[in-house]
Amino acid sequence: MAATEPGMVDTTHVDPPEIVGGCRIITLPKIADVRGNLSYVEGGRHIPFVIRRAYWIYDVPGGALRGGHAYHKLEEFIIAASGSFDVVVDDGSKREVVQLNRSYFGLYVPPMVWRQIENFSSNSVTLILGSLPYSEEDYLRDYEAFARLRHEGPK
Ligand code: TYD
Repeated sequence: MAATEPGMVDTTHVDPPEIVGGCRIITLPKIADVRGNLSYVEGGRHIPFVIRRAYWIYDVPGGALRGGHAYHKLEEFIIAASGSFDVVVDDGSKREVVQLNRSYFGLYVPPMVWRQIENFSSNSVTLILGSLPYSEEDYLRDYEAFARLRHEGPK
């Protein structure tokens, strides 16, 4: 991945600092209950897009990495439905690491942000909500091509 040293983003504060590429932590409603807590997310209300797709990553073997790409148009909201992991986000110049470890907040990732998910705890479940159906054409899988597009804009 990219050249710069990743800085850790502290997700324990109520108002975390702005994250590279327009990424941000969004705290969701939490209905605390002795029978178990409940959180929810409504597209267009808690997150800035209408949800067109949900997918989840689970049974991740130790040391595995997921992602390692950006999207031209897709917006995502990433939640640690169970366990914890790190999301590395990169705008082509700067890179930061966001740890997700509670299921009542998530990371909003706009288009044109390189992202990789790593350091999965055992039995973690990564829930990802997306603004568009799956399309391989929307992926940018080459970091140099992505960084060039970020710096120069589309031709
Ligand atoms: P990919 O997005 O490359 O996985 P990751 O970024 O987590 O490493 O997707 C892996 C495979 O799954 C790829 O062949 C495409 C397929 N896929 C779908 O068919 N639909 C989906 O919604 C997603 C996210 C992936």
